[in-house]
This record gives sequence, structure tokens and C-alpha cells, in this order.
Amino acid sequence: MMQKCWIFFLFIVFPVVIVAADTVSDEAAALQSVAGGWQNKPGSWNGFDPCGSAWLGINCTNSHITSIILPSVGVTGTLAGDIGNLPELLFLDLSYNPGLGGSLPASIGKLYKLKNLILLGCGFSGQIPPELGNLQRLTILALNDNKFSGSMPPALGNLSSLYWFDITGNQISGTIPISDGINPGFDMLRRTKHFHFGGNNLSGNIPPQLFHSGMVTLHVILNNNNFNGSIPSTMNLVPTLEALRFDRNKLTGPVPPTLNSLTSIKELYLSNNLLTGPLPNLTGMNALSYVDLSNNSFDASDVPPWFSTLPSLTTLLLEKSHVQGQIPSQLFSFSPLQTAQLKNNLLNGTLEIDAGYSTQLQLVDLQNNDIADFRNNGNYNNVLLLAGNPACNQGSNEKYCVVPKQNNHPYSTPNSCVSVACPSEQALSPNCFCSYPYEGTLYFRLLTVSNLQNITYYQDVEKSMLTMLQNKKVPVDSVAIHDPFIDASNYLEISVEVFPSGKAKFDQGDIVMIASSFSNQTLKTSGYFALYYFIPKPYIPILGGESSSKSSNTAAIVGASVGGVVALLVVIGLVIFVVMRRNKKPKKTMEQSYPFGSWDPSKTSGSVPQLKGARCFSFEELKKCTDNFSESNHIGSGGYGKVYKGTLTDGQMVAVKRAQEDSMQGGHEFKTEIELLTRVHHRNLVNLVGFCFDQGEQMLVYEYLPNGTLRDSLSGMSGIRLDWKKRLWIALDAARGLSYLHFLADPPIVHRDIKSNNILLDNHLHAKVADFGLSKPMTNDRKGHVTTQVKGTMGYLDPEYYMTQQLTEKSDVYSFGVLLLEVITARKPIERNKYIVREVKAAIDRKKELYGLGQLVDSTIGLSNTLAGFNRFVDLALMCVEESGANRPTMSEVVKEIESIMQLAGINPNAESASASASYDDSSFTLRGQLYSNEALMNYSGAIPSSRSDIN
Ligand SMILES: *[C@@H]1O[C@H](CO)[C@@H](O)[C@H](O)[C@H]1NC(C)=O
Ligand SMILES: *[C@@H]1O[C@H](CO)[C@@H](O)[C@H](O)[C@H]1NC(C)=O
Ligand SMILES: *[C@@H]1O[C@H](CO)[C@@H](O)[C@H](O)[C@H]1NC(C)=O
Ligand SMILES: *[C@@H]1O[C@H](CO)[C@@H](O)[C@H](O)[C@H]1NC(C)=O
Ligand SMILES: *[C@@H]1O[C@H](CO)[C@@H](O)[C@H](O)[C@H]1NC(C)=O
Repeated sequence: MMQKCWIFFLFIVFPVVIVAADTVSDEAAALQSVAGGWQNKPGSWNGFDPCGSAWLGINCTNSHITSIILPSVGVTGTLAGDIGNLPELLFLDLSYNPGLGGSLPASIGKLYKLKNLILLGCGFSGQIPPELGNLQRLTILALNDNKFSGSMPPALGNLSSLYWFDITGNQISGTIPISDGINPGFDMLRRTKHFHFGGNNLSGNIPPQLFHSGMVTLHVILNNNNFNGSIPSTMNLVPTLEALRFDRNKLTGPVPPTLNSLTSIKELYLSNNLLTGPLPNLTGMNALSYVDLSNNSFDASDVPPWFSTLPSLTTLLLEKSHVQGQIPSQLFSFSPLQTAQLKNNLLNGTLEIDAGYSTQLQLVDLQNNDIADFRNNGNYNNVLLLAGNPACNQGSNEKYCVVPKQNNHPYSTPNSCVSVACPSEQALSPNCFCSYPYEGTLYFRLLTVSNLQNITYYQDVEKSMLTMLQNKKVPVDSVAIHDPFIDASNYLEISVEVFPSGKAKFDQGDIVMIASSFSNQTLKTSGYFALYYFIPKPYIPILGGESSSKSSNTAAIVGASVGGVVALLVVIGLVIFVVMRRNKKPKKTMEQSYPFGSWDPSKTSGSVPQLKGARCFSFEELKKCTDNFSESNHIGSGGYGKVYKGTLTDGQMVAVKRAQEDSMQGGHEFKTEIELLTRVHHRNLVNLVGFCFDQGEQMLVYEYLPNGTLRDSLSGMSGIRLDWKKRLWIALDAARGLSYLHFLADPPIVHRDIKSNNILLDNHLHAKVADFGLSKPMTNDRKGHVTTQVKGTMGYLDPEYYMTQQLTEKSDVYSFGVLLLEVITARKPIERNKYIVREVKAAIDRKKELYGLGQLVDSTIGLSNTLAGFNRFVDLALMCVEESGANRPTMSEVVKEIESIMQLAGINPNAESASASASYDDSSFTLRGQLYSNEALMNYSGAIPSSRSDIN
């Protein structure tokens, strides 16, 4: 019967068959398989020819895939082992896709030519596979900010070309492996200039063998781990060292005196350890600009004289370091010093700041010492903190005795815009344009300066970012930065916004360019702040326009859609088909996930179905799995026929929708429908499992959702009680599904029948949108679509659409607004002749608690004082049901607003729920043409609303 399906598709489904692959077929199949493990793939990832059809982020050379650069596009799922079957791959960058997780496949170790492996800010977990050690040409390995655990494989010591090694911010434990003549170790990484291991659970000592004269290392960053033992005295063998961060570990013993032969070191962080012995003597370290020795157990000592001899020192942090005695006044007189942080020590005597103090000096913190008096001989006017000293004891109200409040916002990019108000969710650029900025946080792990008030540094960051993006030809209006602050790991965090130019939103190609500039360390800052990484917020780009990253490889494109060629191509297709069928060892990846792929170069857009994941069932199979369509398995019905619950042989529960004879469609229409159904994939849309076109039957097989419809739960019928947080989740899930249809499906799709009967709940009460019986793809004209028939369900129907017959996405937004009101009130939109929208508008009083809607609110929702964000939720619902579509928000704006309401309610909207990860497998989902009937397609409750309006 598999045969039957194939032939059916060959002759009925494919009106045009084309052969024109630009991609070596094994690699195309491997990439298809990788894509098969993902949801939210870029819109351009269609067809079967990644090189020929310009898949976003894919670059090819001679029909081989050489780079996959796809940061920040929102793909979710796992990375399939077939990634290892791209033997010519040089660059792999999937950064900033936090929903991309699972373990890293060992097969990456087969990518022998790989130069860059950049997976920063994803969700990968498990051990780093030792097979990565095979990558002899790897220069950049950036796995920071994932969830890797386990120990570091010694085999990574074989990465003989490695330059940049960053595993910051994971949960990696164990020791730093060292070679022993049999096993490799990190001491063999002679070319590695950057060891960035901060923020893990690494332990053991910092191995002395790591430092030897063969090395050219610049950065050894080991902060925020559990290292113990002493600081190795071998470090002086590596005179190239420029930055050491050993802070926030459990290091003991004295600092080796040889340290001061490292005369290139600019940043030295040894704070928050258990170091003992004398304060280290740093005389001669003339490059030092930032020194932090705070919070150790050094012997009591006077302020050492050598601080004032270091010509570049801007920052001296010596908090709680047993420093005692009189403060030498020359400490403040050498020129670059900006910050002297000496609080919680035993300094005494009189503090004198005389006329020769450094003009750069901004902050002198001497809180909680034993200083008896202060003499300001030099009219020092910047911050001085003496609270907790005898000099402040007599209730002195001198400025310097006040415990300071943190200045949290030393800088924000200024603008001179006069009373420009942006639509909600848009932001104002420094050049006074409203748009959707790409936002994120820059983390700088090394500082050479500490005066956070000096705007020169931020202007420098702005300028570098702008130049970088302009060089990359990103359409950027401006960049803005906000709220710099130092976090608990002593990283400088800066919020960043990048504003688009000439449009309100970036497209996906722009986002990839921006994000890869950050992930690939293209940003060059002038050295005040260094060693950054960037973590963006999710961004929903506009559709289309991926030109900025399109492959230029057009050499071998053979496009053919001319009618006369078609017949010939069908024959060629058939020949290939027969050859394929006879081939004893068909390509596994191809057969499984793209049974029709080899005829599908997608050059004809639209005429070739995408059938990935949809299984072809025989009538017998479905008959068996529904127990001969037994009455006990009957779970819903409508004008089109009936829905049955069934169990497949592998145990999967499904809902089988069986068309009645009189509502059956022709083969072509059935194909069109399946094609639409399989084109959209999202975890908040009900999945299509497969179909049956056999023995004169037409059936669609969907995933089964055990908890029925939202209507069932709201009405109390299902016995499920939905508290406020669950309702927020359901609203968010449904909004995300709908936003996907509007913005990420290609072509965009208007659902046309959003209502509580079409929102289904899974095991964990997460929602999926179902019933695409009325849905319409919005090809070409995005402005609106004149429909001959206004369809939808009374109560949810957009009045503007009703009157103008002009269909846009905003009609769904209206229905969604009604749904939100229903979520709050549990009332049907029209109940006893009362229309919920009118009821709420009449009752609302924004000055009262719960906006005065207490009477209307569903009593099972929880206590009114637990409804955090309720008012904003109501405001959002009412915006959605604005009379004019233009005044309604878009679904992506709705998603953002619900997300921020959830944060008010203490929920992390990006937390991965069990149900979400359960549906990460990329099975397909549903969408239905109009041929069955206009009745609800998947109405599990069986209650078909009779109040539907079909105006002809
Ligand atoms: C610090 O080291 C320098 C040079 O190595 C030496 O001249 C000086 O006396 C030392 N200072 C202290 C306080 O030990
Ligand atoms: C300051 O502290 C030092 C060391 O603890 C001590 O020797 C000295 O007498 C103190 N001076 C004053 C004025 O208290
Ligand atoms: C800010 O920093 C720059 C560069 O280091 C320096 O030239 C300038 O004098 C500083 N400005 C102030 C107000 O401290
Ligand atoms: C990333 O950086 C490497 C090395 O610096 C460079 O060769 C490569 O072209 C960069 N890739 C992108 C996409 O910028
Ligand atoms: C990929 O191709 C585009 C367009 O030709 C080019 O601008 C980009 O630099 C290439 N990227 C890499 C990593 O080679």
C-alpha cells in the first residue's frame, strides 16, 4: 500500500516534476534530515535543493554545503546526527536558538574541515562529545551559555588548530585534563590564545602543566568555578598573557612571587578566593589597568607603595583585604586612577587628599575603616565614601558620610525627539523613528576602566556596533544602549537595541547578519571593555526579504517550469522513481523524511507538495486502529463526517477525521489540502500525523489531545479547573500558534475560525490551535483579500470583515480578543442574547478593582488578589476587538504583551514545559481547504455551534 501512495502522488499530486539539484544529493538529504529535527525553520527552507534555492544561512561551494550560519532565527528541536554527513562544512553557527537543545551529536566529529563551531546561547545539554577532538582544523569552539554538563573530554586536547575555546556559562564539572603520555590534555593546545571557562562547576587545581613555554595564550578566564589549590607558579612561562580571571573560586596559598614577571597583563582578577600570605607585590606589571584582590585572607599589611607606580592602573579593588595603617596620599595622585575601592579594611589616621590628586579619580570608597578625620586640601569633588569610620561617627551630615544609593542608570543613548509616541511594542530610535528593535544584552567579561559615568566608553560601543553593522550592509537606522551595570560575576552588562532603517522590522536575513556579527566576534571595541558575548531576546522578523544572506551560487541552476518541458520531466521523474524503488539501499534519511524529495527542487513554488512527516495510511490500518470505527471511539462530528479516537500500532493516540461520502473532495483538492496541512509546523498547532486515500475514503489523521477543547474546560464539562496562570498559558500558546500562521507560515495563513472550540488542550493543559477548515493562505496581496463568502462563527466574527468582505490577519485578532474575554469570563461570546464584547465594554470602570468586572469574571479562576496582570489582559482583549482592524495589535504584539503579563504573574513565558518539549519532534500539522463543509472540522466535543454565519 506504500506503493499505492507513491503512485498516487506521482500521477495525481505532481502536476509538474522538475529535476535540477544544485546540491550533492547526500548532503541535501543530510540537511533535510537535520531540518526534520527542527521547528520554526526559516521560510526559505523549502524544497530539496539547499544550494540551488537559496536557503537562508546556507552557503555552498561547488554544490557542497560549506556553511550553515543561522543564529537567532528561533529554530527549536534537536540537532540530528546527520549533521555529520556534510563533509565539506567549514562554518557551523546556530547561536541564539535557545529552543535548540538535546545532546550534541558525536557525528560532528566527522566534520573534518570544520573551522568554526559556534553554538552560543542554545539549549544543548549532556557531555561535550569527545569526538570533537577529531576536528583538526577547528579554530573557534564557542559553546558558551548552554546547559552542557559532565566533564571536559581530554580528547579536546587534540584540537591542534584551536584559537578560541569558550565554554563559559555551562554546568561542566571535573578537572582540566592534562596529557599523560597516553591520554591527551589541554596542555597540548599550543595555539589556543583564549581559554574561557568561567561560570561552570570545574574543580581541582589549576594544573601547573597548563602553562609552559610553548604557549601563546592571551586569556585564561576561570572565574566562578570551584577550583582549589594554589595559583601555579608556572604562569611566568607564558609571558604573552594579557588577562587572568581566577576570581570567585576556592584558591588557597600565597600568590606566587613570579607573577610580576608577566608584564603584559592588563586585567588581574584574584578576588573572592581563600588566598593567604602577603599581598602580592605587583611592581613592574606596567600594563596592569584593572586589579581586583578583594575578599581574600592575605596577611595584614600597609597600603603597598607599588600601586602608585603602575602607569596604567585605573582600578584598584582591595576590599576586605586586611589593609591597615595610614593611607599614603600619593595613592590618589598618579594620573590614570579612577577607582580606589578599599572598604572593610583597617585603615586609620587622617585621610588627606591634596591638590595633586588625579583628575581621573571618580570614586574613593573607604567605608568601614578606622579613619578618624578627613582633610580635603585639594577640593576633591567626586565620590568619596567614609560611612562607617570614626570621621563620620558624630552624626556628621557631610556628603561623604552618607551611605550611597546605587546609580543604576549611568547612561542611556540620548535622543532629541520631541513628543513622538510610538505604537505599543515599538520603540523610539535615537533618530526618532518608531520600529521594532532587535534587542539583547552585551556581557563584557574584562574591563580596563571602572568609571561607569564616563559616556565616552558607551559612545565608543555605539560607534563600533554601528560601524560593524553598516560594514555588513545591514539596513540599520541606529543603535541604542541602556542601563550599564556590573553584575554579580563582575561582568559589565549593557542592554542593546538595534533599530531597522526604512522599515518597521528587520527580516530574517537581517537578523542572521546582526546575530552572526556578534556570535562571530566581529564587533571590535576599542579596549575599554573587552571579551564580550551577546545574548539577544527572541525576535519575530517580517516575512520574505532574505536577500541579504542569499547564496550567490547560481552557477548550476536549471529551472524549468515551461509547460512543454513538463511532460518530458514527468517521464524523467518516473524513470528516477523506478530506479529509486529498485535501489536495494535507498538513502535512509531521504526516504524517511522526504519520500518525495528527490523530485522537489521547489523551483515552481506551490506546485510541489511538502509532505514531510505525513504518513500514508491504508484504509485497513485506520479501520483496525479505531476498532472498526466503533461508536465508543467516536469523539466528534460535523457536517464533513465524524472524528474517531484511535491507537496506532506503535501506541500513538490519534484522532481520525473521516469524510462522509457527500462531502468528499476530488483527488486534486485533497492533495491541496494535505499540502497546506504539512506546510506549517508549530508546537501550538495540532499536528497532522497522516492521511488515507484508499478504497474511496478520504481521512486525515491528527495527533490526539486528551484534554478536549478549551470550551469544555471553561464550561466545566471536562472537570478541569483552569486557574489564572493556566489561562495565561493557554492564551499565550494559542497566540503563539496564531502568530506563527500569520508571520512565519509561507504563505501566511488566516485561520478564520478562532474560537474556544478550536483550541485543544494537551496533557499538560498547553493549548494547540486546531481546525483549519476555513483557513486561507494569503498569497501575494498582504493588504487584504476580498472573499466571496464571509465565513466564521457568530460571536467571534470580525464586524469589519463582515461588512467589507476584506479578509486580513486582523480578523483573527478580533476573534482572538473575543476568546480572551471568554477566557476571563468563561461565558460564550453570545449567551442569552448578550454579546460579551458589549457587556465588558459597558461594565468596565478602570478606576475600580478588576476594572469593575468582578461580576463578569469566572468564579473558578481564583481569588481576585491572585490575578496579577488582569487589567492589562483586559486592555489587551479590548484592543484586539477594536472596531477598525488597523487599530488592533498584530498577533506577534499580542504574544509579547501576554508574555510580559505572565512575567507580572511570576511566570517565565519561555520556560520549556514538558508538553512543549514532547512535541518538538517535527511532525506536521493541519490545515484544511474548504471542501468538506463549513462546519467545525475537529470539534471534539461534538457540539457543533448552530449559530454559524455563512453569507453568500
Ligand atoms: C616589590 O618588588 C620590587 C621589584 O621586584 C622590589 O624592588 C620591591 O622592594 C618589592 N616591594 C616589596 C614591598 O616587597
Ligand atoms: C594605625 O594602625 C596601625 C597598625 O594597626 C597602628 O600601628 C597605628 O598605631 C594606628 N595609628 C593610629 C593613629 O591609630
Ligand atoms: C572619559 O574617558 C576618556 C577616555 O579615557 C578620557 O579622555 C576623558 O577625559 C574621560 N572623561 C571624563 C569626564 O572623565
Ligand atoms: C567569522 O569569522 C571568521 C574568522 O574570523 C571569518 O573567516 C568568517 O568569514 C566569519 N564569518 C562570518 C559569517 O562573518
Ligand atoms: C555566504 O554567501 C554570502 C553571499 O554570497 C556572503 O556574503 C557571505 O559572506 C558568505 N558567508 C560565508 C560564511 O562564507
